[in-house]
Amino acid sequence: MRFIAVVLFLINVSIVNAMPGFFSRAEGDNSVQSAAERGAGGNGLGDMLAPTPPMGWNSWNAFAADIDEQKIRQIADAMVDSGMRDAGYTYLVLDDGWMAKKRDADGNLVADPNKFPSGMKAIGDYIHSKGLKYGIYEDRGHLTCQQLPGSFKHEQADMSIFALWGVDYIKMDSCFAENNGRLSTEDYAIYRNCITKTGRPIVLSISDFGNGAWAWGGKETAQLWRTSGDIYPWMDSVYHSAETSAGDRCIHPGFNGLGQFAGPGHWNDPDMLQVGNLKKDIENRAHFSLWCILAAPLMAGNDLREMSEETRKVLTSPEVIKVNQDPRGIQGYKVYDSGDHEVYNKPLNDGTTAVLLLNKGREIGDITVMWERIGLAGRQKVRDLWAREDLGYHADSYTAKNLPRHGHVLIKVGSGGRLIAGPAAVPAEKYMITKAGETFLSDLYYIWKNSNAPVSDKNYNNDPIAIGGRTYKKGLGCKSNSRMMYKINGRARRFRAVVGLDDSYGGEETGRFRILNEDFFGNKVLFDSGRMKAGSAGKGVDIDVSDVKCLLLVFEGKNVVGNWADARVIAVD
Ligand code: GAL
Repeated sequence: MRFIAVVLFLINVSIVNAMPGFFSRAEGDNSVQSAAERGAGGNGLGDMLAPTPPMGWNSWNAFAADIDEQKIRQIADAMVDSGMRDAGYTYLVLDDGWMAKKRDADGNLVADPNKFPSGMKAIGDYIHSKGLKYGIYEDRGHLTCQQLPGSFKHEQADMSIFALWGVDYIKMDSCFAENNGRLSTEDYAIYRNCITKTGRPIVLSISDFGNGAWAWGGKETAQLWRTSGDIYPWMDSVYHSAETSAGDRCIHPGFNGLGQFAGPGHWNDPDMLQVGNLKKDIENRAHFSLWCILAAPLMAGNDLREMSEETRKVLTSPEVIKVNQDPRGIQGYKVYDSGDHEVYNKPLNDGTTAVLLLNKGREIGDITVMWERIGLAGRQKVRDLWAREDLGYHADSYTAKNLPRHGHVLIKVGSGGRLIAGPAAVPAEKYMITKAGETFLSDLYYIWKNSNAPVSDKNYNNDPIAIGGRTYKKGLGCKSNSRMMYKINGRARRFRAVVGLDDSYGGEETGRFRILNEDFFGNKVLFDSGRMKAGSAGKGVDIDVSDVKCLLLVFEGKNVVGNWADARVIAVD
């Protein structure tokens, strides 16, 4: 199983070509923001289809592509018998591996005849007969990640056949999508339109390894989008995935996570659960606590047929799930992070707030949450949500004592009533083009990044930017490999910069600067510097970026230091 996972991981990484890098923690300011302000229901359907984070089970983490109708029926039975369905897990999603290697003579998708001899409508009927909803996997490339038939050029036919089979949820993956010649925005809009044409309400889940769907507007078309690469059954991976949604692994630290892009109808998805697949109960609980506080979709990924009672209790813990499913839909955000110790806050719809205190470090430790950090003061009622018991009243703060590695406490604080302030959204002018004239990108927050974060108005080593003997006051100092996306929102007309290796770099390696429209799946290259050497003069960039919503700046090379000097966009009214 682990071997399979690692192989798949490598396949996916080679497709994506890089994993997010590691960066220090985020810090943001906090004040009131309602669900409406957070842009609820951007696709019009969102509020109806996923008012709270979708819950269910998906076959991938338990079985990879090794699924068949007997297993899936048994899982459906287990979802009911274990109490999972009644705890809220309604979607049963068949991931990659259900299809035959080829479409039929009419071009229709068909079930793998050995694995699903009764066909895909029959399995859907069985799932529905259990009071569950039916989910299925496809891919927007010409092949799925397992190299089975993808939906590229079969978009309407496939969505129509899914509707005919009674599908309620589609996970649309992105392997091989970079050959489509379409932006991700275009691709997912096509699927949403095709789904709409079927007349069946279907949840669309964007699976794109976390390449910034929150940035280019995934919520226009889908109810959830991945924020991370694939999750694996070990805690480093679990924490890494959580950090894509809650930290600055893939967005500017000023955002304090991706929370402002989620809300009722559309959710950040740090990938499916590994609860039950981890080594210890405390790990399963820490993982589940994080997903619940982050308002992440809860798609179980363990073999429910042989789940232990311990695991069942974690997955069905009623008061913990309630935090995840809170109708206010605020994604919990960090109010404290010392590296090892983290505190998250998730203001709830009843005027109380859920707080997670988590020790990720190796040392046993105490963690304190000060009420002032979570919008409260004075004496407050505290309830332990895992233990389901009241812990009395506490003045000014609460301390969880002697937490071992992965040790945590999930509490509910307050007596309810007036809503507690949620985190403030970063205002548009900080990360989008909101005015006519020139805007330097170094004055904006990037909205997505992979690997090394850029330094504003300095080279990567915090010295003045210098290319070919010229210094520049403005610009982005980078170390390869780095990719970052800026949301220019269709307002800019030109992008101008001077690119080149920084004069401080004396190595032999070359660096290459490329600019793409949106994420790399679109493969729409707007500029390519070619390989540049140390000491060479800068190259001027002056390109048309009309109608570009998100600009992706890519700097490739082996540990090379380079600059996007004077990088700016010019907008008109
Ligand atoms: C990956 C995806 C996984 C799983 C797998 C199937 O791209 O991220 O969640 O669906 O493909 O092959």
